[in-house]
Amino acid sequence: MSAARKPMMMGNWKMNGGLQANQDLLRALRAVDCSAQVRAGACVPFPYLSQAQAEWQGSGWAWGAQDLSVHDKGAYTGEVSAAMLREFAVRYVLVGHSERRQYHGESDDLVANKAKQALAHGITPIVCVGETLAERQAGQTEQVVKRQLAAVIHVVAHCVSEMVVAYEPVWAIGTGQTATPEQAQVVHAVLRTQLSAATDRAQTMTILYGGSMNAANAADLLAQPDIDGGLVGGASLKADDFLNMISTAQALTA
Ligand code: PGA
Repeated sequence: MSAARKPMMMGNWKMNGGLQANQDLLRALRAVDCSAQVRAGACVPFPYLSQAQAEWQGSGWAWGAQDLSVHDKGAYTGEVSAAMLREFAVRYVLVGHSERRQYHGESDDLVANKAKQALAHGITPIVCVGETLAERQAGQTEQVVKRQLAAVIHVVAHCVSEMVVAYEPVWAIGTGQTATPEQAQVVHAVLRTQLSAATDRAQTMTILYGGSMNAANAADLLAQPDIDGGLVGGASLKADDFLNMISTAQALTA
């Protein structure tokens, strides 16, 4: 982490939750105001956006969505538009999560256009990039993440500095197998260098790490100079764990 950047700890609930469980979680998190030092929040399933809004409005916590449509409106059954997200005061939206790329066939080009669509509606896209285990073993990590990010940089053009980037090695997601802090830092530095070629604000941009980040490994990951926070899946569903990670981030800013 660098003093130049306020850390961000963003939960990704994925397809988890239920009205009662969410209420307990949202309230337990809201009870802690960390907003002076950390940008904290969660990306929740679409049906729970209004609940997150109701529980968190007026607090320092930010809520986001996990996907959006590339289209404005119309005959796109099952899709949710950026304008709809705006009606629920959504501040962030995940774009290009590996589970979308893998299970829903999202291409680099589609991901880039989703990022552009979010920006056009005043929503900050959290653009996810990351290599598979096979790609890492083949020595292609750098090439893959650069290709994924280049597609977005090309399409969002002068808005590059307004997005958040998340490095999530696919082999580390939900597997309990975290990238070592050194492995993650190498990739984060590559991404920041790539961003520097596109914007003079790369040093103020947020690059999150995601993939089995938890209360035990957060401190070492967040201590890396180019890791500005976390995109946290499983551990963000447990208030104590997530708050613990947030206080770790807070402590590093002190
Ligand atoms: P995980 O998920 O923390 O459960 O590995 C992270 C993510 O996919 O965003």
